[in-house]
Amino acid sequence: MADSPALDVLLPLDSAVRHLAPREDEAELAALFTDGPAGGVHVRANMVSTVDGAATGADHVSGSINGPADYRVFRVLRALADVVLVGAGTARAERYPPLDVPHGLRAVRASLGLPDQLELAIVTASGELPDSLLDTDRPPLVLTTGSAPSLDGLRSRIGADRVVVADGGLPGAVDPRAVVAALAERGLSHVLAEGGPTLLAQLVDADLVDELCLTWSPQLVGGPAGRVTHLPTWFTPARSLTLAHLLHADGVLLGRWRVARLGA
Ligand SMILES: NC(=O)c1ccc[n+]([C@@H]2O[C@H](COP(=O)([O-])OP(=O)(O)OC[C@H]3O[C@@H](n4cnc5c(N)ncnc54)[C@H](OP(=O)(O)O)[C@@H]3O)[C@@H](O)[C@H]2O)c1
Repeated sequence: MADSPALDVLLPLDSAVRHLAPREDEAELAALFTDGPAGGVHVRANMVSTVDGAATGADHVSGSINGPADYRVFRVLRALADVVLVGAGTARAERYPPLDVPHGLRAVRASLGLPDQLELAIVTASGELPDSLLDTDRPPLVLTTGSAPSLDGLRSRIGADRVVVADGGLPGAVDPRAVVAALAERGLSHVLAEGGPTLLAQLVDADLVDELCLTWSPQLVGGPAGRVTHLPTWFTPARSLTLAHLLHADGVLLGRWRVARLGA
């Protein structure tokens, strides 16, 4: 925890600024993220952006635009999830390993009745996932289509029970609603969507996201990087967000917004 910064609570404005010093168990910080409605499925997205809106830096991954404050919240949000959900583009680009509950955070997780193991779920049409994820004793859940060329290969490689066909309306594409429903069927109802922009946009468009945690990194990077949502069409209607809190450390702003669900 030595390189973890203290976080200032800037909002809500009706509370005095508090400083959340790093703590081994992160109980205070976790409490800021555990006031959601009890029961049911909850989808929380966690992303990082530069101040000029880029979802990556020049390295084409998020590693160059995040930092210790973002990492503090990132770890806590993982500890509060049953499953981390990503698109295959993110799993490949960010070199996702099999996931463990972040060190020191098992107690906060247990206090909320969450299971010992943190699952990783990956959405893919191609089935092209890194060997390092598939050839382990803890492979991810793979959510794919019935027409995926590698369907049989995936089933024999990681076990048929780890491969979920989640077809929807569009041929060759996984239906985000079927993804969230399939996770919930497995008891994975606290979903942490870590992107990428393509999958997150579909989750929002399908009215599945309850909450967005977004870190603004105090950088301008220019370049061709996309934003944290990527969809060829506009969200119709645009989704309204309500700010739940805003944290700050060394110029990094970390917001938590509730997303208005159209169906609510
Ligand atoms: N700033 C941040 O917080 C953040 C977070 C995550 C990622 N990133 C960055 O974002 C970039 C990746 O962006 P991305 O938009 O390509 O990521 P992505 O959404 O993680 O991956 C896109 C891939 O996911 C699969 N996929 C998504 N929706 C699908 C659907 N409905 N049906 C079937 N498959 C589907 C496809 O995989 P297949 O190609 O295998 O079919 C697709 O090519 C990387 O540079 C990464 O570093 C940034």
